[in-house]
Amino acid sequence: MAINLTPVDRAKYAAARRAVDLVEDGMKLGLGTGSTAAWMVRALAQKVRDEGLRLTCVPTSARTADLARELGLRVVPFEDAGWLDMTIDGTDEFDGNLALIKGGGGAHLMEKIVATASDRMVVITDASKEVKALGAFPLPVEVVPFGWQASRMLIEELLAAMDVMGTQASLRMNGSRPYITDEGNHILDLSLGRIGNPRQLSLALNQVPGVVENGLFIDICDAVVIGFPDGMVELR
Ligand code: 5RP
Repeated sequence: MAINLTPVDRAKYAAARRAVDLVEDGMKLGLGTGSTAAWMVRALAQKVRDEGLRLTCVPTSARTADLARELGLRVVPFEDAGWLDMTIDGTDEFDGNLALIKGGGGAHLMEKIVATASDRMVVITDASKEVKALGAFPLPVEVVPFGWQASRMLIEELLAAMDVMGTQASLRMNGSRPYITDEGNHILDLSLGRIGNPRQLSLALNQVPGVVENGLFIDICDAVVIGFPDGMVELR
């Protein structure tokens, strides 16, 4: 691997390498999205070349699918794979209960579907993503484009009624246009500061008309691999 990596990338790569050690021949794998997940896809492709493994891979975004195919991994449509053995993905935040905020890369809808259709979700990260309470990272909420302004108002009312700190929901932009997810939706990023009850908030957000899925992953992640710039890892 290139030696000119930043300390953060060395940490992400260390976590990715360790998670790839868990992969066995014949497995059906969910591939996450983001820079940490991209390190995992590279490490996985190397392992497949070195050990001649036969794997079936289901990516969680078009970006990951492109990278996986480019590196020679066998990518299949989700519907052809059925239940998966393991999903390996990055995160934006994780807490002591292994609850997550994901979706900084805009892929949390597909990531959540794939992770929950897997026996095991393993998260790979550098140490900076660990938090005492979720919420410093803006919480992504995917909404259908039709009436997204109404969904935003309802979300802001909901947050105020739940007494959640901060009620601002910003439409994610891509330059001068709204960001469009792989599923054709928009994203509202909620600046909350601190989420007291992530499970309650996740359930309530998904009741709002127009909301497709929020970025809280509760009771989905089974293990976190934290990488460090010196190549060491810690498992949680
Ligand atoms: C994408 C995600 C990513 O896993 C998350 O944003 C972390 O990204 P990175 O590994 O680049 O820090 O949830 O939707």
